[in-house]
Amino acid sequence: MASSRQPIGVFDSGIGGLTVVKALIEDLPSESIVYFGDTARVPYGTKSKDTIVKFSLENVEFLLRFGVKCIVIACNTSSSWALPTLRKYFKVPIVGVIRPGAQAAVRQTKTGRIGVIGTRATIRSRAYEAAVHRIDPSMKVFSESCPLFVPLVEEGWLNGSVCKAAAERYLEPLKRQRIDTLILGCTHYPLLAPTILHVLGPRVALVDSARQTALEVRGLLMGTDTLRERNARPSYRFFVTDEPEQFAGLSRRFLERRAMAVEQVNGHP
Ligand code: DGL
Repeated sequence: MASSRQPIGVFDSGIGGLTVVKALIEDLPSESIVYFGDTARVPYGTKSKDTIVKFSLENVEFLLRFGVKCIVIACNTSSSWALPTLRKYFKVPIVGVIRPGAQAAVRQTKTGRIGVIGTRATIRSRAYEAAVHRIDPSMKVFSESCPLFVPLVEEGWLNGSVCKAAAERYLEPLKRQRIDTLILGCTHYPLLAPTILHVLGPRVALVDSARQTALEVRGLLMGTDTLRERNARPSYRFFVTDEPEQFAGLSRRFLERRAMAVEQVNGHP
C-alpha cells in the first residue's frame, strides 16, 4: 500500500518536464517530487517508437528505486508512444499528459475545431487525435509538428523575429483550418504561448497539458487516499543523465526558480 509521504516520480526526455513540475508544485505544494531528465538521450521527439518505449521503461525503473507512489510522464512524446506499455509492465499508477490535454481541449472548444502541435514523434503517433475522438468523435482535429520550437526555447529565443517567423510558418495551416483551441502538445511550448497567441490571434484558446495533468494527479492521489496533508514540507530531487550544471542553469526558465541539487546518474539509469 502506498503512503501519502512517498514522493511523486516525474520523468521527461530532458528539461522540458519542469513545466509539469511547476504545475505540480503550484497545485500540490506539499507533495515531494523525484524528477528524472534523460538529458544524455534527449531529444525523444525525433526517435522511433521502439526507442522511445525502451527509454521510457528504463526511466520508470529508475524512479521506482525511490518508492514513488505514482509516476507522471511529463514528456508528450513518451506519453504518446509508451504509456500503454508502461501500464502493462508496472503496477504503480502512471499518468501521461495526453488525456488531460485532450479533455481540456474538448471542454474548451466552441466550434469543435481543435489544433495540436508537438514533436514529430508525438504528431506521428496521432495520440492526441485518438484521445480527443475517444471523448467526442465529432471533433475535428488538425495537427502540425513544430520541430524547431524545442531548440528555440532551450536557446531562450521565446519571442523576436526568428521565433515569430518559425511560429508563423508552422501555425499557418492551423490558422487556415480556423481552429478555436490549440493543444500545446510538448513540454516546451507553454514558454512560447505569447508568441503563439500573437500569431494565431486572441480568439484561439491555448491548452497547456501540464496544468491539466496536475489536476489529474490530484484526482488520482485523492482516489487512492495518498494525497499528502496540506502543511507537510516537500522535498525535491532532480536527476539527469548528463550535464547537471546546464540543467540547473536552464531550470530557472522552466520552473521560474533554480532546480536545487541536480544529481547526475552515470550512464543509462
Ligand atoms: N519533452 C519532449 C515532449 O514533450 C520534447 C523534447 C524532446 O523531443 O525530447 O515531447
